[in-house]
Amino acid sequence: MEKLIIEGGRPLRGEVKISGAKNAALPLMAATLLAPGKHKLRNVPDLRDTRTFIRLLENLGVKSERTGDLLILDSTHLVDAEAPYSLVKTMRASVLVLGPLLARLGKAKVSLPGGCAIGARPINFHIMGLERLGVVCKLEGGYVDAHVEGPMRGDVIYFDIPSVTGTENLLMAAVLAEGTTVLKNAAREPEIGNLIDMLLSMGARIEGRGSDKLIVHGVKQLVPANCTIIPDRIETGTYLIAIAATGGSGTVTNCNPAHLPSLLEKLRSAGLRIIETADTINISWPAQPEKLPVLASVDIKTRPYPGYPTDLQAQFMALMALGSDICVITETIFENRFMHVAELQRLGAKIRVEGHSAVVSGRGMNGLCGAPVMATDLRASSSLVIAGLAASGRTEISRIYHLERGYENLVEKLSGLGARVWKEQDQEL
Ligand code: EPZ
Repeated sequence: MEKLIIEGGRPLRGEVKISGAKNAALPLMAATLLAPGKHKLRNVPDLRDTRTFIRLLENLGVKSERTGDLLILDSTHLVDAEAPYSLVKTMRASVLVLGPLLARLGKAKVSLPGGCAIGARPINFHIMGLERLGVVCKLEGGYVDAHVEGPMRGDVIYFDIPSVTGTENLLMAAVLAEGTTVLKNAAREPEIGNLIDMLLSMGARIEGRGSDKLIVHGVKQLVPANCTIIPDRIETGTYLIAIAATGGSGTVTNCNPAHLPSLLEKLRSAGLRIIETADTINISWPAQPEKLPVLASVDIKTRPYPGYPTDLQAQFMALMALGSDICVITETIFENRFMHVAELQRLGAKIRVEGHSAVVSGRGMNGLCGAPVMATDLRASSSLVIAGLAASGRTEISRIYHLERGYENLVEKLSGLGARVWKEQDQEL
């Protein structure tokens, strides 16, 4: 295994280009199962998760060809295969092949994802919705073995909680169903808008894009897609927070500021200056010659989009560890998404967890000190990178395969901003 070494305490400055969104690429790759033929997806990030998803699709008979960020997926000949536990256990998003396989073939066998570091991650909403559309789902041996006699039949589906992949799975199931399907209390994340745009370009009929009520009029067949993945809003937020945490200034390019309304507001409240254009965000500190910046401590509470994103909670906590006062960070989406707290404490952060809230007592912009820490999940590991960049001295982060799931060319991009960061073999036992 490898570890990441960071010599911290250096302000990040310059420009960083954002890659395509992991959480858009995965559902859009799954949607290529809906129509036979060659699908073209552009701006596809090269990540551990996208490589895993390509392997999953190839296991189902899809042929793949990648040239730079263009990914061509030919789903003409699907084989009667399954999404095996060996693949699904490493990437929960594999469950996204359920809906399109049922729509295309009328059957699918997909391993239950199992839990992960941040929570139990059930898929009961996915199953409930499919059963409303006439699918018979058998849960046995750790697998969902699903089939439907003839085409699915449209119906009304209500989500108790606006589930992102639940909404995506049922959208893909409904586009080829007979009649009309209504998804109520649907998730509104930008990645769902990207999926809807792709499905519309394939000939689907969907109303309500961007709202929590999606109406799908089933069609007989679809044609291959030719579309582009949206910029990764979580990668964008991670770099903005990293620049702020190091007292630097810089511009994030090839991004979409409109996808980060809550984070930009919180960074402004914390004292940062944010200037947006259509596809760039510049972040800087107000001029404070020869003095350390003073970061205001700001409360956040994670919420479904457009609320503050849970995938940027850990990163913001690393920033608030450098604040000038006390703030409260509340996680309302996942039941166990404070795994980064113990590791941040090793870097000197003063944090007290009380149920679903963490009380962060800021130590000031030079309050953290480098130490060896361990990554536990994708977004927790990025909060350790931010804290290590801000801390004085050396930080070593082990188990960085978590990071490689969701951040393309991380070392190159951080080095381009002036960070002293590199990888080494980890002698971890
Ligand atoms: C998506 O996960 C993202 N993953 C997650 O990003 C993100 O944190 C999450 O949405 C919330 O925004 C992808 O898009 C691939 P949910 P998803 O269904 O769809 C409960 C990352 O770091 N729930 O919106 O799995 C669930 O337990 C990852 O990139 C059920 O109870 O999340 C959670 O409490 C981490 N039953 C809440 O709903 C279900 O059937 C929201 O989960 C489904 C979900």
